[in-house]
Amino acid sequence: PDRYAVVGHPVEHSRSPTIHALFADQTGQALHYERLLAPLDGFEATLRAFAAAGAKGCNVTVPFKFEAFALATRRTERAELGGAVNTLRFDADGWVGDNTDGAGLVNDIQHNAARPLQGVQVLLVGAGGAAAGVLGSLMAARPAQVTVVNRSVDKAQALVASHAQLGQQLGVRLAAATLADAPATQDVVINATSSSLAGEASPVGAQVLRPGALVVDMMYGPKAQPFLDWAAAHGAEPRDGLGMLVEQAAEAFHFWRGVRPDTGPVLRAMRASL
Ligand code: ATR
Repeated sequence: PDRYAVVGHPVEHSRSPTIHALFADQTGQALHYERLLAPLDGFEATLRAFAAAGAKGCNVTVPFKFEAFALATRRTERAELGGAVNTLRFDADGWVGDNTDGAGLVNDIQHNAARPLQGVQVLLVGAGGAAAGVLGSLMAARPAQVTVVNRSVDKAQALVASHAQLGQQLGVRLAAATLADAPATQDVVINATSSSLAGEASPVGAQVLRPGALVVDMMYGPKAQPFLDWAAAHGAEPRDGLGMLVEQAAEAFHFWRGVRPDTGPVLRAMRASL
């Protein structure tokens, strides 16, 4: 079977092998997907050895998404825009880099959570690599406005500036602000910060929530819980990052195999095993 892997540091807790094994079963694709721990200073060497052994591609996780971007000989438009690569395909004529995180987030919100993005107000909290990776795909769903707020406002401003032309093309308003100046009554609020790692409930005040707002944390498990509990306590609908994880994996599977798995049963199986 064709070989794939998730490459990261750490990588032992990654659920991607389980998800891709379920996709392979469901679609009848013969592939083997493993975990590959790369030394912090040995990402490129790890990839070269894996490709030389005949592997067909890999997913890339922390902290290597920027290095993967640099190593790709070609990149999809959405990877280019986000400045990071989470999926590589080893083609005969080079390595093609894609970023499926944004499409994964958007598909989870629109299909699994059944919340439209078109015409709504979206608040993206955070302006690091995780936020940069999803902003373009969020905008492609044509919300009325996306506001990026960040502790360091200069990073929010830079992220908005790098997407300004896309905003004009799509007719999506973009704004940047500090956490304290986050706009009120948003329809969808997405936490792309690592703030829950520091044990804080929410980086923004509850005024950002429209009643019934959808609140998504890009993480799942205990790390996302304080923020999601905060959202629920203020009348919002909380959603963790497990759906996004399964959906970004489905996009990667399609990028490699040309086949789109049905994510519904896989997400239910993953939820049941959390
Ligand atoms: P990632 O790849 O996960 O996005 P990153 O690029 O280091 O990691 O970005 C982390 C994000 O979490 C940033 O938006 C960061 O804010 P700053 O740019 O101001 O550093 C945000 N963040 C981390 N800890 C935070 C905290 N305690 N409160 C608010 N925001 C925090």
